[in-house]
Amino acid sequence: MSSYKRRPSPGNTDWLVHDRFGMFIHFGLYAMPARHEWIRYDEVIQDAEYQPYFDHFNPDLFDAREWAAKAKAAGMKYAVLTTKHHEGFCLFDSKYTEYKITNTPFGRDLVKEYVEAFRAEGLKIGFYYSLIDWNHPQFPIDDLHPMAAYEDAEERNKSRDMKKYAQYMRDQVTELMSNYGKIDILWFDFSYDAMPEHPRYKPWMKGKRAADWESEKLIAIARELQPGIIINNRTDIEQDTWTPEQIQREQWPTHPETGELLTWEVCQTFSGSWGYYRDEHTWKSPEQLITMLIKTVASGGNLLMNVGPTARGNFDYRADAALEEFAKWMKVNSRSIYGCTKAEPEFETPLGCRLTQSEDGKRLYIHILDYPLQMLTMPSLAGKVAYSQFLHDASELPFYDSAANRCGEVMNDTFVLPALKPNVLVPVIEVFLK
Ligand code: GLC
Repeated sequence: MSSYKRRPSPGNTDWLVHDRFGMFIHFGLYAMPARHEWIRYDEVIQDAEYQPYFDHFNPDLFDAREWAAKAKAAGMKYAVLTTKHHEGFCLFDSKYTEYKITNTPFGRDLVKEYVEAFRAEGLKIGFYYSLIDWNHPQFPIDDLHPMAAYEDAEERNKSRDMKKYAQYMRDQVTELMSNYGKIDILWFDFSYDAMPEHPRYKPWMKGKRAADWESEKLIAIARELQPGIIINNRTDIEQDTWTPEQIQREQWPTHPETGELLTWEVCQTFSGSWGYYRDEHTWKSPEQLITMLIKTVASGGNLLMNVGPTARGNFDYRADAALEEFAKWMKVNSRSIYGCTKAEPEFETPLGCRLTQSEDGKRLYIHILDYPLQMLTMPSLAGKVAYSQFLHDASELPFYDSAANRCGEVMNDTFVLPALKPNVLVPVIEVFLK
């Protein structure tokens, strides 16, 4: 059994930690200008200028079953969809706003179709819900709000009442937790302090944290309506998961006070932005993508890999290609990911490799990121190997107490690899431990 004990939390995270790999989906009006989901803020776009996107929103190629099939093929076991992002536009049919998808030319409740299709594929269902809302008339203006740049921002802010906005969130979270059956994850985004060093900061602006969102009540609603649900920490109240974004952790994060291991899920993008960004040319390579997944699980974490669908409602060809890389690799290597975690400390990681180990402790996986010339030595495995093989084709790969290389040099505790790297992006050695 794995000796790593995670800090206890209110929700049921066991399935999440087992499944390791999920799909994040950022979809909203921002897919139309197609240059970042923060575009309203970045370019200080006023309500009237943003309205054409709402008026013309019609993702006619949207097919939730296709999204679900692609997630499943990529080896993903769960998904988290933006039911509402910072722009305030709701992808679900909410009673509490007119700023919703059912009022656009598209006219359908996309969240409902997402839930049904992903559930039908056996994937777990997550809802992202933005605490920030740039459309709601009661949301107090702060330095992260597009209106912060307006001349009359302070005047406009006077009529805004955070309490009313907090009530709106409770109403919407109640809808999301009541109208779509079992929901496995609620993913809030995010809390912050005012930033005096920020160019748009004014002394009257305030940040927003748990007391402003009334996070406790939001969480209580979700827990009552969806027992066992997993909630992230971004309401500013610790819950189940810790969710860093766009960084590669190589250490298992610990609680700052107690040092306990945290349940964590890193979210990553294919190209940098979360929403569809047509002209972004910083797409990660297949190696980078697969390596991110391996390094994350090797440090006891989950990977939530984002797709930003186009405004037609389908996946961009670059996203499809990236998902295809995951699909190819996972098809033959998922055993080193599902139900696996950081290897026990007794196993020393060979140079250029990353290790994972099955939760029951019986199998060790050596991911060869940097393929060596034939000999892969691992002294910490001495006397512990019952059988070993390449994972992708189950071809035997014995572990020798000692073996000679081509020049007759003897190496101890070593695998002898084929000189040519097998035709798999990152080969994995599967070791059945004694
Ligand atoms: C940030 C961004 C946001 C994105 C999120 C994903 O908080 O504001 O656009 O949805 O990260 O983690």
